[in-house]
Amino acid sequence: MLTTDGPESGPLEVIDRLPASNRRISIFGLGYVGAVSLACLARDGHRVVGVDIDPVKLDLIRARKSPILEEGIQELMRDVVGSGRVRVTQDAAQALRDTEISFVCVGTPSAANGSQDLTALLRLAEQLGAALRTKREFHTIVVRSTVMPGTLESKVEPILEKFSGKRSGVDFGLAFQPEFLREGSSIRDYDHPPYTIVGGNCERAVEAVRDVFRHLECRFLVTGIRVAEALKMSCNAFHALKITFANEIGRIAQSLDIDSHEVMRLVCADTRLNISPAYLKPGFAFGGSCLPKDLRALAQIARQNDVDVPMLSSLLASNRAHVDHAVEMILQLGRPRVGMLGLSFKTGTDDLRESPLVMVAKRLIGEGCELRIFDPEVQLSRLLGANRSYIDANIPHLGSLLCPDLASMVEPSEVILVGLQQPALDAGLQSRVRPDQYVIDLVNLPNRDLLNCRYQGICW
Ligand SMILES: NC(=O)c1ccc[n+]([C@@H]2O[C@H](COP(=O)([O-])OP(=O)(O)OC[C@H]3O[C@@H](n4cnc5c(N)ncnc54)[C@H](O)[C@@H]3O)[C@@H](O)[C@H]2O)c1
Repeated sequence: MLTTDGPESGPLEVIDRLPASNRRISIFGLGYVGAVSLACLARDGHRVVGVDIDPVKLDLIRARKSPILEEGIQELMRDVVGSGRVRVTQDAAQALRDTEISFVCVGTPSAANGSQDLTALLRLAEQLGAALRTKREFHTIVVRSTVMPGTLESKVEPILEKFSGKRSGVDFGLAFQPEFLREGSSIRDYDHPPYTIVGGNCERAVEAVRDVFRHLECRFLVTGIRVAEALKMSCNAFHALKITFANEIGRIAQSLDIDSHEVMRLVCADTRLNISPAYLKPGFAFGGSCLPKDLRALAQIARQNDVDVPMLSSLLASNRAHVDHAVEMILQLGRPRVGMLGLSFKTGTDDLRESPLVMVAKRLIGEGCELRIFDPEVQLSRLLGANRSYIDANIPHLGSLLCPDLASMVEPSEVILVGLQQPALDAGLQSRVRPDQYVIDLVNLPNRDLLNCRYQGICW
């Protein structure tokens, strides 16, 4: 039974929302994430036990005060603790036994070498595992701390199983549900997440989370545990990338006496190519007649104006690393007869200037590969001007490598690098590749399960 060692009496204010359900919930770690979760879950009608190793935080909550400073949290904490629905304790085992679902919100700070310090999480996993051993009912543990992908399955789950003597996904549930709140607007963010996303080891774990958050007006998405972990990590990296981008553009604009806010406002006003899923799919390197040269010029003008823009200046190096990765994947196979589907910098053009596929071809030729290339858009006789000069400088004997059709490229090749995606070519590839051939996919081919070959994706 849930007991209460928080204040039993006091002004019980009307909490103006209907309970989504009335669950018994424990929260481990009462920092920014845990304290907000505790207050909001209690506000939503649940009975909540908060656990922390810091007695000061527990005393503050018992005194109806928030251990963190956030807009609205003091009032909310006062109300929910006053309601009697909140209890706090240092006894992790008892908290788990008294509840049906546990949210783990302990810190995962940086270790000295930059890795995540999982000490708190793993120690807690031992305690939770030991407490599960004597619990008869099914219990769900939901990790909300940000962890590197694979942490739950490779570290937390084995500890829980070892200390409980129970089977994960059968006797207890384990889920990862990333938290999207931002300090400063955490209650609002808690109530209005972009979506609720959960990866769980069993249906019951996922349903337990759905039940607690079903009142939120957002999509409820279910995915794998490792995807959910990677999603949170990617979101934080993306936020950092966006801030850095805006700041570097801002500094360059400032050095040119241009209104940086106006520039970024207009960048964001393009919701087709800029603030959109465009260019946000894992695939191959960028190239063509615009991005590389303009990035070079931007880095140059920044240097000239003494503006340090490490991120913008590193984009071409990162792009080259991606090309190197493709070349390495091919060379590692030790099969010198390589076919390339596609040569131009993207599907639907014959522009070869700064095409990353041209760079791959050049490198492979240098490594002694026997290359065959088929690109339906590229015909040597039609290449003119700068396009022709570029290819003459990089692959002067391109004419002898170009195949007239897909079959003559595929048939003799041991490895096929797919850098072009068209439905007719996909079908042609499916009907022609053999089990002894490798296909390295740069374009995320649809229906790749239908390829009867040894398949590898460039970054999937
Ligand atoms: N702060 C944010 O805005 C935010 C947002 C999303 C996700 N996250 C992630 O959530 C996690 C928690 O972040 P935070 O900012 O709330 O951390 P925090 O450092 O403010 O709080 C962590 C709490 O865990 C407690 N704790 C440590 N070991 C414990 C144990 N064994 N049992 C019980 N409690 C224990 C600590 O005493 C502390 O109060 C981190 O992984 C963080 O990356 C944070």
